[in-house]
Amino acid sequence: MLKHTIAEVRELVKQWKKEGLTVGLVPTMGALHAGHLSLIKKAVEKCDRVVVSVFVNPIQFCPGEDLDKYPRTLEADTKLCEDAGVSIVFAPSPSEMYGEGQMRTNDFLTYVIPPFFYVNKLCGKSRVGHFDGVCTVVNKLFNIVQPDYAFFGEKDAQQLIIIKKMVKDLNIPVEIIPCPIVREESGLALSSRNKYLSENDKKEALVLSKILNNIKLCYKKGITDIESLKETAYTFLNEHHDLEYLEFMNQTNLDEVKIADDNTRVFIACRVGGVRLIDNILLGE
Ligand code: PAJ
Repeated sequence: MLKHTIAEVRELVKQWKKEGLTVGLVPTMGALHAGHLSLIKKAVEKCDRVVVSVFVNPIQFCPGEDLDKYPRTLEADTKLCEDAGVSIVFAPSPSEMYGEGQMRTNDFLTYVIPPFFYVNKLCGKSRVGHFDGVCTVVNKLFNIVQPDYAFFGEKDAQQLIIIKKMVKDLNIPVEIIPCPIVREESGLALSSRNKYLSENDKKEALVLSKILNNIKLCYKKGITDIESLKETAYTFLNEHHDLEYLEFMNQTNLDEVKIADDNTRVFIACRVGGVRLIDNILLGE
């Protein structure tokens, strides 16, 4: 079940392919919660064999981000995967993925760079190089596991859109399956980073889903002008909230929109108690 090397995974997948079995991949950074588990459940339903990767990918963290303190709970993650019917938990070391040396030395030099138009906005704006790291590791995982299907959450909608674009542009033979956002009853989108929030921060963090739901309500009532929709958000913000962005984009190609329609996705990033949280909603659902 738990595998640490690329060679072991390749060997097992080779056997499965020989038997004509379909393979699903769920890429994660671990600290699994019900959001991840919804992807895993979908994968187990759809595929004969499922690989869950658990890898805190160093090259997608920017300087000053939480790489060292990112929660690592491999034992519990493996148990959850086992119970869910996963065949392999692939948990490589950074050196297994990138060689022994420092990043961007001779050990590892080839990156997948997504189009500037897709990364110079939303999370890509403050997290420079982040999506290079994501696309590179996801591409490596696709090459290692060679899945028929790969499962990604709409929680990270910009990531999902960029990965779909990479798969299309590079003719990668995998079908990307989008999965809806899983929320707490309160509305807070589940995230591994919620662990950093105090009880009070958690209450304040509801501002993200409240703003998004209110915008959708206003849209359904007929307001489509973006500036008017943005205005509705500001009444929810107080001194606990440090809003990074609130943006309206075409959900297929990340074009900025001026007048909202059913294909508009609203994206928000906000720091609460120093923790950077993201959320989004599709207006047409
Ligand atoms: P991670 O943050 O661990 O997320 C793994 C997958 O779970 C992503 O596809 C993410 O969108 C999905 N997910 C997280 N929270 C969710 C929620 N509340 N509802 C639905 N899906 C949710 O995203 C990454 O890891 C990394 O960037 C990765 C793709 C693994 C590359 O390193």
